[in-house]
Amino acid sequence: MTSEADPLTLVLVGPMAAGKTSVGRRVARRLGVAFVDTDKRIVAAHGPIPDIFAEHGEPHFRELERAAVAEALSEGGVISLGGGAVTQADTRDLLKDQPVVFLTVSADAVAGRIRGSNRPLLAGEEDPVERWTKIFEERRRWYAEVASATFDTSRRPMQKIADDIVAWRREQR
Ligand code: S3P
Repeated sequence: MTSEADPLTLVLVGPMAAGKTSVGRRVARRLGVAFVDTDKRIVAAHGPIPDIFAEHGEPHFRELERAAVAEALSEGGVISLGGGAVTQADTRDLLKDQPVVFLTVSADAVAGRIRGSNRPLLAGEEDPVERWTKIFEERRRWYAEVASATFDTSRRPMQKIADDIVAWRREQR
């Protein structure tokens, strides 16, 4: 057991539309700590993600993302990462020894969530759910590598999932 001053840092990873932001916000509220969404930080500093991809390429975005993750970890709180953050070895290194929650979701459940989204990796000719599925499969081992616990968001309300994560995090202290 550590003291009440423990910042209760917690990192959320998982595929696009797994609910990292909605769950993360709720977990942070329950734990009484700050919530940081690294994508939002990047957008605030550098503009929309599709524009960053189009103008500077994905590797540049990944570097901005690694820096945003490092900054957020130095501050603590509940930190939600973009779905592709784990593809970078440098970013995965930052997550070693951190409590990392992997949010999973089924392709069926994700279909409604990604409709109309502006995620550059789901744009293009291919069916977005098929594309999402392929990307998730490619990355699954990295999520598993960094994760300390896994929760599925397909069927239960986000608040219930957040409650389970809060209970899990409190057990870790
Ligand atoms: C990406 C996921 C997005 C965002 C960017 C790239 C990815 O975040 O970082 O579009 O590579 O999976 P979400 O996981 O919040 O959609």
